[in-house]
Amino acid sequence: MVYLSPISLFDIFRIIKTEDKRGSIMDKPKDTATATAATAGLRGVVAAQSSIGDVDGENGVLIYQGYNIHDLAEHSTFEETVFLLWHGRLPKKDELEALKKEISENYEAPAEVIALMKEFPKSADPMDVLRTAVSMLDFYDDGAHDTSREASLKLAVKLTAQMPTIVAAWERIRNGQEPVTPKADQNIATNFLYMMKGEMPSQEDAKLFDVCLILHADHELNASTFTTRVVSGTLADMYGAVTAGIAALSGPLHGGANTNVMKMLLDIGEMENVEPYIAEALAAKKKIMGIGHAVYKTEDPRATHLRKFSKQVSERAGNTKWYEMSEKIEEIMKREKGMNPNVDFYSASTYYMMGIPLDQYTPIFAISRISGWTGHILEQYGNNKLIRPRAEYIGPRDLKYTPIDKH
Ligand SMILES: CC(C)(COP(=O)(O)OP(=O)(O)OC[C@H]1O[C@@H](n2cnc3c(N)ncnc32)[C@H](O)[C@@H]1OP(=O)(O)O)[C@@H](O)C(=O)NCCC(=O)NCCS
Repeated sequence: MVYLSPISLFDIFRIIKTEDKRGSIMDKPKDTATATAATAGLRGVVAAQSSIGDVDGENGVLIYQGYNIHDLAEHSTFEETVFLLWHGRLPKKDELEALKKEISENYEAPAEVIALMKEFPKSADPMDVLRTAVSMLDFYDDGAHDTSREASLKLAVKLTAQMPTIVAAWERIRNGQEPVTPKADQNIATNFLYMMKGEMPSQEDAKLFDVCLILHADHELNASTFTTRVVSGTLADMYGAVTAGIAALSGPLHGGANTNVMKMLLDIGEMENVEPYIAEALAAKKKIMGIGHAVYKTEDPRATHLRKFSKQVSERAGNTKWYEMSEKIEEIMKREKGMNPNVDFYSASTYYMMGIPLDQYTPIFAISRISGWTGHILEQYGNNKLIRPRAEYIGPRDLKYTPIDKH
């Protein structure tokens, strides 16, 4: 691993340059493989100091502010985890109550945003809708551009409270229904399921979903969190940084994988097709969605819980088909490639059995990850340094300009 101190990616290039005995790689990229191998995808590059979360890929351990994710999944609530991520410690009773109150008072998104969402094409992708609506929140917030900790905490509350409202509202709007008004006396998880479906969820589903939100809350410098740090590092406002984070999360190699896992399961259709389908995909060098991880070499600790949840909801619904097919894919991928499921793999069948539409899985990821994003943005603002790495130039130099009609 290459450490950068304290924050700048520029150092990695300086290290590589120093190690290059033939002089500057910027001037003469003779051995570009050295630099490329060290920096491709910034793998192993430590690009920020953070106390929010840590991933131990060798041992499959994920912690938030020092607490193991397994402990939080078993004992905490999403709101308590949000406090932990923002303040670096677990809340006292009155602090948690105050945060819950503040969140519930901010559940309702600006009416102008909901009104404009009604004008969006009904075919719009929910992640694109979320990205656009979150960007619009900025217009209706006088404090949007204040990057002080006090103001940023208020923005973090609003984003955490309103993103679920926006996601649920879009589900209603695109189906020609009126958005459901959030219930101020319900937590984020229960409220979201209620607003999305228009009826209160069972206690089991609400509890399970609350833990899903805890599990997705933070994951150190993943692509979308890094994006939010890069944007907030310019001292752009929190809405802008989160808008960029949503865009990064939407990609199929990041948060978009969960939807593609379910599409794959539906495509496979039946248990008897699993083995030939995966064999064919691997032979064609296709990636199996929800499998593999850039950091974990063992099982993703979040997958341990989601596997259990997928089984539970499937059994409750009396249909374990998708869960069993997922288990079979997991077994094949372990056998053939030594690869494990990541957080997206079992969340797909869990959400499917909860009756959540496929293209809402990634927005659900976002309504949880907003807590981690905002935690990282608060941290970035608190000790800011512009994130500005260098590129290793591998193109030509000293070309002579020729006018367009001469070539
Ligand atoms: C997550 C992911 C991007 C991390 O990958 P990475 O560490 O950058 O590894 P690479 O993509 O470079 O892949 C390394 C090798 O493993 C293979 N591989 C990685 N993930 C694979 C998968 N899901 N299915 C099949 N093969 C996979 C690659 O084909 C490559 O093989 P090769 O060396 O023969 O070319 C990758 O595993 C992936 O694309 N997974 C599917 C998407 C997904 O679930 N994303 C959610 C992440 S939480």
